[in-house]
Amino acid sequence: MTVPPAFLEELRARLPLSEVIGRRLRLVRSGREFAAPCPFHNEKSPSFTVNDQKGFFHCFGCGAHGDVIGFVMRHDHLSFPEAVESLAGLAGLPVPRTAPEDRQRHEHRKGLHEAIEAATCWFEQQLRAPAGAAALAYLRRRGLDDEAIASFRLGYAPSDRNALRPVLERAGFGIEILVEAGLLKRPDDGGAPFSFFRHRVLFPVADRRGQIVAFGGRLIDGEGPKYINTGETPLFHKGQLLYGLSRARAAAAEQQPVVVVEGYMDVIALVRAGYAGAVAPLGTALTETQIEILWRLFPGRDKTPVLCFDGDTAGRRAAARAVDRILPMLAADRSVRVAFLPGGEDPDSLIRGRGVAAFKSVLDQARSLVDVLWEIETAERRFETPEAKAGLKAALDARVDQIADRTVQGFYRGEVGRRINELFWTRWRSDRPMAGARLGAGRPQRPGAPRPMMAPPEPPRRPKSASHRWPRLLLTTLINHPQLLDEFHEILALTEIGEPGLDDLRHALIVLADGVGQGDRSGEATAVRVRLAALGFQELLDELLDPSTYESHRFSAPGADLAMARRGLTDGHATFCRIRIGRELVEAGRRLGQDGGKRDLSRVITLRSELVLPEPEPEDPV
Ligand code: UTP
Ligand code: MN
Repeated sequence: MTVPPAFLEELRARLPLSEVIGRRLRLVRSGREFAAPCPFHNEKSPSFTVNDQKGFFHCFGCGAHGDVIGFVMRHDHLSFPEAVESLAGLAGLPVPRTAPEDRQRHEHRKGLHEAIEAATCWFEQQLRAPAGAAALAYLRRRGLDDEAIASFRLGYAPSDRNALRPVLERAGFGIEILVEAGLLKRPDDGGAPFSFFRHRVLFPVADRRGQIVAFGGRLIDGEGPKYINTGETPLFHKGQLLYGLSRARAAAAEQQPVVVVEGYMDVIALVRAGYAGAVAPLGTALTETQIEILWRLFPGRDKTPVLCFDGDTAGRRAAARAVDRILPMLAADRSVRVAFLPGGEDPDSLIRGRGVAAFKSVLDQARSLVDVLWEIETAERRFETPEAKAGLKAALDARVDQIADRTVQGFYRGEVGRRINELFWTRWRSDRPMAGARLGAGRPQRPGAPRPMMAPPEPPRRPKSASHRWPRLLLTTLINHPQLLDEFHEILALTEIGEPGLDDLRHALIVLADGVGQGDRSGEATAVRVRLAALGFQELLDELLDPSTYESHRFSAPGADLAMARRGLTDGHATFCRIRIGRELVEAGRRLGQDGGKRDLSRVITLRSELVLPEPEPEDPV
């Protein structure tokens, strides 16, 4: 398309750069210019500037530079004519289309389309010819009936490398155009061009308007790659199209789900099962352009295609790669969900083997991107040590940093931070191995929302012995005197209670300790109580902050002074240790008496030595 330069000038004049860019990015005025984080590279501080007077944008970070047309081409992934078309629409101007080269180019493309259409018809016929018997039998074995074969226009390219050329030549197509369309291949030795596809089942690939532009060819038997696809041609760029796109566009307009799968056969199986929104990339991993295309399929605000992957290791790796590609592209209402198929299945085999319902349940279990991100980083790993925890945080932070959209990034950071906190309380408490959620398994339990306080309807068990009472006293005192949290942080961390609710509260307190306890600010105790209540611990708080406790142990009361509370906790801890050691000693001694293991002997010795360390206090505070 040759657009008269005067028209381009008119577009530039009518559309201030800041207005066009401002529809896509949040621009902040600074002096005569506007600034934003650059949409073309990953950054946090804005080095992307827009200057309406000069009519160009410039990024000081990555050097991206251009005018309004260049911006739309790059940002919206459009060709020059498409960008001009889009801006002309915005300005309300028709694109002048008069140049002779323009018409010539149009004619040329039309010729390519016609050649491919003619070839498609011939391939369809060949499938029904005697030469196509093996191919037809193959498709039948894979469960495709005549209706499916016709509607997907499946065909057969015969083994004879010289069969296609004369047919299309007779129909009036020159060799050049057949080569350009990817139907014939010119041999290196300069001989006559021959058929690109030989002895393969052909899956015609349609562009967004539904015109065939390329083929995928599947091996039927013998040697060679399982699939080969038409190479790049003027009509076909494999990274900018999806198999099933034109049908999916119509389906998406009717609010049907858009489902991205891996293969041609998967799309066909899904469409036949009622999922007209099924698409597949063409022999490559999903590209950024394809993701943009997917989002543009959705008419409404919420643009969320579902990506399906195999549940095995390779599928998980593919999912991780897709996530990496998508993170920088996320924006408000633009995301993906991810579904995992049972190991070893693809949608085609799943539907054939277990029916549509099996696929539906896979789709129903699709996870949000933030879930998948979390699972990728936590799957089958343990986070017991501070280093492992820091490692998890660093890995997740790095992922979140990839998100270019500031707002989306902010929400991801918040969500991930919350999950890290929850994971560390619950995992820390638990004796279970700390394996992360498994990718590909059923919907995971949300990590660590505070365990619901569903106490059986029996009256709360009143702790009797001192060793039962101590951990409660510790909690009561620290809740009333959060200034001591720092000092007793370690003791709090080591005092396993063995009652899920109380241990959850203990861990919540440990986490809160990082935020409070510096200095002696009044009101902290209230803040801590409010925070704990908000986390669902109100019932336990009522139990712990019972006035009868204050009567028997004055140091735990809110009114006790700090020195008194500190002394009470120090003494209580010492007593508790004596009791615990004493009990262990008795137990080890008993085992020693029974079968006299060496381990028990050394344990007795260790415990004895521990026992003499802390001097018992004259007044038992517990
Ligand atoms: P798969 O190997 O998963 O095969 O390739 P499939 O789709 O399940 O094929 P069937 O069911 O055995 O017929 C998935 C997709 O990857 C591309 C094709 O687009 C295929 O549909 N592919 C695969 C290639 O481009 N070349 C290959 O050699 C293999
Ligand atoms: Mn398959």
